[in-house]
Amino acid sequence: MDAPKIRRLQQNDLPIYEPGLEGLVRDNQGAGRLRFTTDLAEAVRHGRVIFIAVGTPADEDGSADLQHVLEVARAIGEYMNEPKVVVTKSTVPVGTAELVRTTIRAQTRERFELCSNPEFLKEGAAIDDFMKPDRVVLGVDSEEAREVMGALYAPFVRTGNPILFMDIASAEVTKYAANAMLATRISFMNQIADFCDRAGADVARVRQGIGTDRRIGSAFLFPGPGYGGSCFPKDVKALITAARGLGMEPTLLDAVEAVNERQKHLLLERVLQRFGASLQGRQIAVWGLAFKAETDDMRESPAIPLLDGILAAGGAVRAHDPKAVPIARSLYGDRVHYASDPYDALAGSDALVVMTEWLVYRNPDFDRMRRLLSEPVVFDGRNLYDPQGMRKLGFEHYGIGRGGKVRAR
Ligand SMILES: NC(=O)c1ccc[n+]([C@@H]2O[C@H](COP(=O)([O-])OP(=O)(O)OC[C@H]3O[C@@H](n4cnc5c(N)ncnc54)[C@H](O)[C@@H]3O)[C@@H](O)[C@H]2O)c1
Repeated sequence: MDAPKIRRLQQNDLPIYEPGLEGLVRDNQGAGRLRFTTDLAEAVRHGRVIFIAVGTPADEDGSADLQHVLEVARAIGEYMNEPKVVVTKSTVPVGTAELVRTTIRAQTRERFELCSNPEFLKEGAAIDDFMKPDRVVLGVDSEEAREVMGALYAPFVRTGNPILFMDIASAEVTKYAANAMLATRISFMNQIADFCDRAGADVARVRQGIGTDRRIGSAFLFPGPGYGGSCFPKDVKALITAARGLGMEPTLLDAVEAVNERQKHLLLERVLQRFGASLQGRQIAVWGLAFKAETDDMRESPAIPLLDGILAAGGAVRAHDPKAVPIARSLYGDRVHYASDPYDALAGSDALVVMTEWLVYRNPDFDRMRRLLSEPVVFDGRNLYDPQGMRKLGFEHYGIGRGGKVRAR
């Protein structure tokens, strides 16, 4: 329904950055397999399966806002011309498929089946995750939906990764449980990192020490500036709200969120600790604005509280990001200087804060960095650099959970 966006897509001009996506869209659109339209009737009549993949942002009370999903459901009901399988791909709270069913049913007497098919892709690796999923979760309550969806996904699970059929409610909960678990691992490691900082231990060693335990596993154990993005923050909030609605106290999830809120302000706190509460006359270089590497997505990015805080303290920001600058410009306009390359961000800056783990930041020219910075202070929010090596090179380096108390001004 977003006409300008659809027009861009028709010309293979993608409104987001996702590695490999442009070529895929161009090839399939060129071959006539993929079409973009604002004509709802045409879109609904096309095909046997309809995926609902619209946004489900957090409402004021933290619950998932279902207005877009239900708007689409109404339109599906209105234009339905033959039996369909309607699939909720958006992340939606348990019970939503039933709401979708009643909403469609109110518009049509045509037969339709429902399926809950949560999406587990990672931004930045979305195509691979879709083409080679660890698993496909399909919540169904009819033989027809099971058959149609099983056939649709068969080509993507040829290597033996499972299609997990389950009831619709369990499929809906699976998505929230997965994101809550991943967010929990991040907050857990961020809290362990805080402990390491205080105890004089190195969280990078601790991470290896626990990650090699097969019961724990090595993925998702990296401390950092806090989780962001369009999913974890809103999904943890939605699960918390849903749990309260069911009369339980989600104490663990509350803690996961509280730890993350603190973490998202940690780097700003350290900058202020180092340079004082006023940053008047100071310039801070920031590497990375996207909430993670390989995307231009800045939704809930930890870079936002950092930038806001530096600007509020009277400081200047010289920021670099390989892909997210257009988005940053729409948020900050001219209040931030956008550097043309990572080193340009350092020119005359009092310190560097690394916020995103982009490949270009992992192995920089350290001599050049030190020469450009007016003070060789690096707040390494992604633990990209070895603290001892950095100290040898003459940097004042602060990682997350890697020791090194911030030297107050
Ligand atoms: N982004 C991710 O990595 C990811 C991963 C897994 C699940 N999800 C879930 O997928 C859903 C979409 O996420 P997103 O990041 O793509 O959101 P988004 O906001 O980037 O995209 C949603 C799109 O839906 C369109 N839309 C809204 N209302 C519409 C309507 N009535 N008719 C037609 N189009 C409409 C919007 O124009 C927009 O382009 C959410 O529920 C999210 O939780 C996202």
